[in-house]
Amino acid sequence: MIDVIDQLDALRARVNAWKREGLRVGFVPTMGNLHAGHFSLVELARRYADKVVASVFVNPTQFGPNEDFARYPRTPQADAAGLRAAGCDALWLPSVEAMYPYGADHAVRMHVPGITDSLDGASRPGHFDGVATVVSRLFNQVQADVAVFGRKDYQQLAVIRYLVRDLAFPIEILAGDTLREADGLAMSSRNQYLTAHQRSIAPTIHRVLHAMRAAWQQGTLRSELEASADQALRNAGFVPDYAVIRRPDFTEPVDGEGGALVALIAARLGTTRLIDNLEFDFGI
Ligand code: PAF
Repeated sequence: MIDVIDQLDALRARVNAWKREGLRVGFVPTMGNLHAGHFSLVELARRYADKVVASVFVNPTQFGPNEDFARYPRTPQADAAGLRAAGCDALWLPSVEAMYPYGADHAVRMHVPGITDSLDGASRPGHFDGVATVVSRLFNQVQADVAVFGRKDYQQLAVIRYLVRDLAFPIEILAGDTLREADGLAMSSRNQYLTAHQRSIAPTIHRVLHAMRAAWQQGTLRSELEASADQALRNAGFVPDYAVIRRPDFTEPVDGEGGALVALIAARLGTTRLIDNLEFDFGI
């Protein structure tokens, strides 16, 4: 049984009842069109909580004017069935009015500084303000003890952690590993936009990330390996937004640097923008 809730007072009553019983509440925010990657986040939440709430809300404030808000796939029935099967206890389906009582254009907005200046923050102006704005609202609505976000959205995860620490949200953040298709393509709702030909090219992103990691380990200069990655993506038919190696705080590592690093790619295939990343650490 999954409780489908579309009124805030009903959500509050449900979560408060659980809390009165001393139960720990987990939360998985999503934009719907759920796939195995999302369900693995629900399963992770279940390991750290007694009850799990998922939300489905295609958030208008995180899409740019020329992005895919209108065509973003909406599959509410399949989402509810999948969440039920994954062991989710409640599905929160807020309306735009419930999320933005003054309207999306008159909403109080969040802005996480610094780490949103580069990469997706630069390619998609305002995107992370929209994410931080909606996630703050979702946290206030659901009042969960723990929330789960996917590592595929590496920069988003950093934005959420910054937000939670800076505003002292009483919630623990967990990161779920990226689920991949057999050929390495990271699972994403946007994969279904791809034509058969584009789908056959798409795993190149994963291969290039591994090549970047190997080149770093071999001591290749960062400028060279980033240029080669960009070229490899272009040769395959992508238009890259970026293909870079960064520290976890998104600053640029010096050549040969050890410790925790991440290779990040965002690239367009036709009108579809795909992102992926690979974390690595070769020690000092
Ligand atoms: O990762 C997503 O699906 C969205 O950015 C999120 C966190 C649900 C906010 O709308």
